Amino acid sequence: MARISERLRVSRRIAAITESATLAVDAKAKAMRAAGQDVIGFGAGEPDFPTPDHIVRAAIAACSDPVSHHYTPAAGLPELRTAIAEKTMRDSGFECSANQVLVTNGGKQAVYNAFQVILDPGDEVLLPAPYWTTYPESIALADGVPVALSTTEATEFRVSVEQLEAARTSQTKALVFCSPSNPTGVVYPPDEVAAIGRWAAEHGIWVVTDEIYEHLTFGTHRFSSLPVVAPDVAESCIVVNGVAKTYAMTGWRVGWMIGPRDVVAAASNLQSHSTSNVANVSQAAALAALTGDLAAVAEMRAVFERRGTVMHSMLSAIPGVRCIKPQGAFYCFPSFAGVLGRTIRGQTPTSSLELCELILEEARVAVVPGEAFGAQGYARLSFALGDDDLVEGVSRIAALLS
Ligand SMILES: Cc1ncc(COP(=O)(O)O)c(C=O)c1O
Repeated sequence: MARISERLRVSRRIAAITESATLAVDAKAKAMRAAGQDVIGFGAGEPDFPTPDHIVRAAIAACSDPVSHHYTPAAGLPELRTAIAEKTMRDSGFECSANQVLVTNGGKQAVYNAFQVILDPGDEVLLPAPYWTTYPESIALADGVPVALSTTEATEFRVSVEQLEAARTSQTKALVFCSPSNPTGVVYPPDEVAAIGRWAAEHGIWVVTDEIYEHLTFGTHRFSSLPVVAPDVAESCIVVNGVAKTYAMTGWRVGWMIGPRDVVAAASNLQSHSTSNVANVSQAAALAALTGDLAAVAEMRAVFERRGTVMHSMLSAIPGVRCIKPQGAFYCFPSFAGVLGRTIRGQTPTSSLELCELILEEARVAVVPGEAFGAQGYARLSFALGDDDLVEGVSRIAALLS
């Protein structure tokens, strides 16, 4: 029998993908915990709360209804697509119709679909860094070329129109925009969102705007939707969103993309041959979430804000660590540049990757190295975990580094 040679077993396209670093850190922490070690995990980007009760009850009811035991249209339950269009108007002020909505397996599939539909081989996608770790892989899976644009704390990790313009080439097809941002926790002010949107519209560049953290903003920071503050871009804009972060529903796998009709129809065709519809019961749960009130969301937001303040002040007190106060989402993204090169317990980490390994080994605390987000020297810590663990975990880091 002929054997497939090692080189050909996995396609080049897929072999080039790296494992999601955030999921890998989380998995390592969970494995250490399962082995009896006392590990605190700041890796996972998911709320620690259970899904609110009224949403779970709607799912239980859907489970018992044989209607839910069957396929829905690939693009999603019609009533859910309508609810998403209405919720979008309610929450961000963006007007769209139900046939501009495609229900996807989490926001992640919306990102994947978006790039599959708009990119041809060699198309460049401007990607402000630090970026969510999935974007470059998703772009590459569509044969696109991610063009990372570095930002630092000096500009609060916000990209400028000048930077975008300097990176624009004849191959530039799209821009990724994410505010509130994973991993930096930064929220762009409305005038900057508008300027970026106008720039994209002027140059005929697609914008894939990720609004998954829209409800999680702190202090005076407010979310603004790019196609609302820059309406000219609406015809070349894809909005990504989902229930995962807002309603503590990461496991239910419901997200969506909103875009011009031709793009959404193309993405529905793609999805009809890949995953088909999102689980019917999960769609019923999402419908309850989006049509219900936002009381539980407000409560969770307030808890995240309080935890973010605690984590920020504890991190900022560690010598050599600098940290912007989180403005949204649920992450601190401190710079550890002042710690690198120092000898700690006999080791001298020179990169954030090495430092994070040391922190895991010596302090038994899992944090995600900045390299995963295109930003060496930093690390991401999620504050979507219980207060006691949060304080204990950051105290351990402080004890190790001080
Ligand atoms: C910026 C951003 N977009 C999209 C997602 C996708 O979320 P999900 O696929 O769970 O809906 C995440 C999850 O970590 C995220 O951080």
